[in-house]
Amino acid sequence: MSHSSLPFPLLRRGLALVVASLFTAASAHGAERPALDVPYIKTPPAVVERMLELGRVGPDDYLIDLGSGDGRIPIAAAVKHGTRGLGVDLDPERTREATALAQEAGVADKLEFRTENLFDTDLSQASVITMYLFPEINLKLRPHLLALKPGTRIVAHAFHMDEWTPDHHEVVEGRDIFMWTIPAQIAGLWRVKAPGHRDFVMRIWQTLNDVRATAITLDEHSIPAMNVNVQGSHFRYTLNTAEGPLNFEGTVQGARMKGTGTAGEWTAERM
Ligand SMILES: C[S@@+](CC[C@H](N)C(=O)[O-])C[C@H]1O[C@@H](n2cnc3c(N)ncnc32)[C@H](O)[C@@H]1O
Repeated sequence: MSHSSLPFPLLRRGLALVVASLFTAASAHGAERPALDVPYIKTPPAVVERMLELGRVGPDDYLIDLGSGDGRIPIAAAVKHGTRGLGVDLDPERTREATALAQEAGVADKLEFRTENLFDTDLSQASVITMYLFPEINLKLRPHLLALKPGTRIVAHAFHMDEWTPDHHEVVEGRDIFMWTIPAQIAGLWRVKAPGHRDFVMRIWQTLNDVRATAITLDEHSIPAMNVNVQGSHFRYTLNTAEGPLNFEGTVQGARMKGTGTAGEWTAERM
């Protein structure tokens, strides 16, 4: 499903044929098969391995693979990195296969496979989400992904999410892999206290992971923040003041920020 190697209409026609053949095979055995949003196509092992590296999976992570097929992504994460996880797939045949393969690999105690529509899955426990789905499904998932804990990694095979620029993109064996880190949601007004300075207000605008900000001082000066960056719950910016550049770097936790910078330790509270 690499979008860089196939024109899109051709790709969709090809996949439609795969879906059609799946249904033919199913009806030949007389079994009821669900209407899938995306056909079953496996991610090659080298791509799985790189997806897990980009997701920085470890033993403390909880990985959810949305549309898990034979479970190869959660199983590889559990075997190689000791990661716990969940795979959901609409097709019960895939759930049975993944459960058996997890048992064979000796990681059944770390993993759960469920027959479930991925749009019904509770994602709140995830620290890493993996997916190999269609672009429109990725986009439909996007608001649910953005509501996850800051710092959660999303790793997608084949398709990205439009104007939400990934932190990383690379091609492995001709397959595109994309990685995003869920940013803290920091748009709004914040009152900042920094030593040696009068309190000021930061006004922050945010669209996806694109953040702009302006400092408004009590004497109504406005200073645009430069080099603004949010990565998970980490936030930094620079203010060019009359005394020279002031760097601020810190972390966001709910309605508070704290960190260090040129002026020393600073804190901020949502107004
Ligand atoms: C392209 S395959 C990816 C399989 C596996 N994640 C991998 O990378 O090898 C997509 C999978 O999504 C499943 N699927 C399609 N629509 C789904 C839905 N609405 N909810 C859950 N799973 C779905 C399909 O059955 C298929 O196994």
